[in-house]
Formats: sequence, structure tokens, C-alpha cells
Amino acid sequence: MAFVKNIYYRSFQAVFNVGARCLYWRRPIPFSGVGSVQKIPELLKKEKVQKVMVVTGPTVGRKLAPKILTELDKAGIAYTLFAEVEANPSVNTVNRIQKLYLDTGCQGFIAIGGGSPMDAAKAAAARVVRPNTPVGKMAGLLRVGKKIPPYIAVPTTAGTGSETTIAAVITDTETHHKYALMDLHLVPKYAILDPEMTRELPQKITSTTGMDALTHAVEAYVCWTYNTAESIRLAEEAVCEIFRYLERAYNDGNDMEARTQMLIASFKAGFAFTRAGVGNVHAIAHTLGGLYNTPHGLANAVILPIVLEDYGEAVHEKLAHLAELTGVRFNGTDAEKARAFIDEIRAMNKRMNIPTGFDFIKEEDIPQMIRWALAEANPVYPVPVLYDKKRCEKVIRRIIAEA
Ligand SMILES: [Fe+2]
Repeated sequence: MAFVKNIYYRSFQAVFNVGARCLYWRRPIPFSGVGSVQKIPELLKKEKVQKVMVVTGPTVGRKLAPKILTELDKAGIAYTLFAEVEANPSVNTVNRIQKLYLDTGCQGFIAIGGGSPMDAAKAAAARVVRPNTPVGKMAGLLRVGKKIPPYIAVPTTAGTGSETTIAAVITDTETHHKYALMDLHLVPKYAILDPEMTRELPQKITSTTGMDALTHAVEAYVCWTYNTAESIRLAEEAVCEIFRYLERAYNDGNDMEARTQMLIASFKAGFAFTRAGVGNVHAIAHTLGGLYNTPHGLANAVILPIVLEDYGEAVHEKLAHLAELTGVRFNGTDAEKARAFIDEIRAMNKRMNIPTGFDFIKEEDIPQMIRWALAEANPVYPVPVLYDKKRCEKVIRRIIAEA
């Protein structure tokens, strides 16, 4: 039975790969560097947006959104502010944003924040153009199917890549199940990569979101199909940049060069995984976000080395190449180089005070985690190693054992 399932998954991926190559993969237009938020009014005018919905969370709403609201005021652009997006945004939040957008006559979105506000705004934008379709009905691949209003993404962390992706991850209010809407229409029109927006990020957020970006790049890179020459190149560049700049940004938040490079790396990693997909690391990490509200980047940082190790030989060649590109190890066999690459991820985690495992996973939740993780990964993610119940459970138990 497992054999038949695996044949189905691999066939699905092979067919999807052909189909994906026929689609138009629009990329957001990026503006990077100190002060790039000042571009926003001009972009809104270009898009003929006279009133914009600004979506963010409470902290960013207080500390960073005013910078952008001031620019809007100066340019005479009206706005409605929604600053209540929570971590792991819920369907309720998405519906409240949609209602406010329609009630106040907005014509476009500015999402400021990490993944949560960007994802909530994407899902709300989808609801705006598909008012009769509940969020859950748009979960999965290509279910939005309609152009969303102009959308400007302003990341305040360098990690989620949501400013460039087709995905919006939403949590069902009742069941706590996290799922993703994935549609080419959800790609933002513009991405503003202004390092000033990440200057004040606490160390813990810098490190975990940066490791999320690394997970995007690595998971995309080790996928067996979907990749293009461009997604491979961008994943490699992102991995190298993250190895070079993440700890610099972690150790000195005012290092604007490191902050800019991390935003660019995150953007590149976002494009790579939009094209090539993520994998079992994300599938398992999402279950921890849904059940325990574990920050997404933290979950990925912990799970990434464990899953890469579990993949074994299937990823040795690719990880060996990354080990060389990042300068981690040049000599030895592919297995040795891959080992060194994984060790370096663990070492980075350690230097940035990220734990090695999680002790809060409840025994009774494990079957649910396995179900959700397998349902997310299969058949869509072209993972190098297909997981079944047994292997997924083994990895989850490693995550607990390594705590
Ligand atoms: Fe992620």
C-alpha cells in the first residue's frame, strides 16, 4: 500500500512539475536599502490607490507602522489601520480584515510585519475578490484564481519570505489546524526591503526568522523536482548570504549592511521555495505552530538539522555542494561534507541560543501531528525522501529526545 502511495506522490510531482513550467511565475518588484519605505506613496499613486488598508500586528503597529503612516499622510493618501494580527493568524482575523477593507472602501493593501500580517492580508485580499468563498475553501493549490488588489509587502523580519511567495498560512479558529492557501495571485506586487524596519528586532527574532529563511533555501534546494536554474541559483545565493550575514545581524542589530543582505537573502529564499516548494521540515513545523503556537522560525531551526540528518544519503550530494559554497568543508566524501554542513547549522543554532529539541510535545498529540504533517507534505512537496507514519514519528521522537 505504501509503495502504491509513493508511486502516486512521485507521479503527481512529475506531472505538477510539467504543469508548473507552463505557469507565469510573477515576482514582486523589490526596492531595497535604507529609506526604501519612502517609495510607498509613489507606488500607491501608480496603482491608483487612494485609500489603503494597512495590516500589521500590535507591536509593529505601535513601533514601526507610524513611519509608513507618516509617509502616507505627507502624500495625502487615506488609510485604514488594522493592527491586531496575532502570531499564526486565524480565519477570524482574516474575515475581520476583509470586512473592514470593504466597509471603509479601501483599494489596496500594505502589509507590514513578519509572516503573520503578510499572510493574513493575503488571505483577506483573496476574500475581498472571492467574498462568497470561506478561507478554508481556498486552502491548497491554485484555489484563489482571481487577481487580488494591489499589495505592498513590507517585511519587518528577514525570514518568512512571504513578501515574495504564493502562500498564506492560516490557522483554523476552531480546530487549530494550520493550512496554506497557495496561488500565484497571492504574490505581492511590490516588496519593500528596508533594513530600518528590522533594526530593532530582538536577537531571538533575528535568529529564528533567519533560520526560517535558511530552511526555505535548503528545503527548496534539496527538492528532487520543480527547481529551475534560477531557483537553484537563488537558493544557493541565499544559503551563502545567510551563513555570512545572519550572525552579524544577530550580534549587532545596527549593522545595516547585514540587515539589508538578510532581507535580500530572505527574498531570494522566498522565491526559491515558491518555485521549488518546501518539505518535511515545514510540514512538521506547522503542526507545532498550530498546536503549541511555537514560532515558525524557531520550529524550523530546530527541525532542519534533524530532518536533513534523517534524509541521509538522498541529500548528501546537494548538501556537500552547499558545504563547499559556504566554505564549511572542501575535502572528503559527499557524506562527510554533508555532515559538516548539518553540523554547522547546529553550531549556528547553538551560537544563537536556539534549542536542540522541544520537550513540550505531548504524547497524545503525536498521531495528530503525523496526520497533519503527512497531509501537508504529500503529494505536493517534492521532498527528497517521502515520509510515512513510521518515519514521521521517528523524527518527531528525535525532536523530543534532543531537547
Ligand atoms: Fe517558513
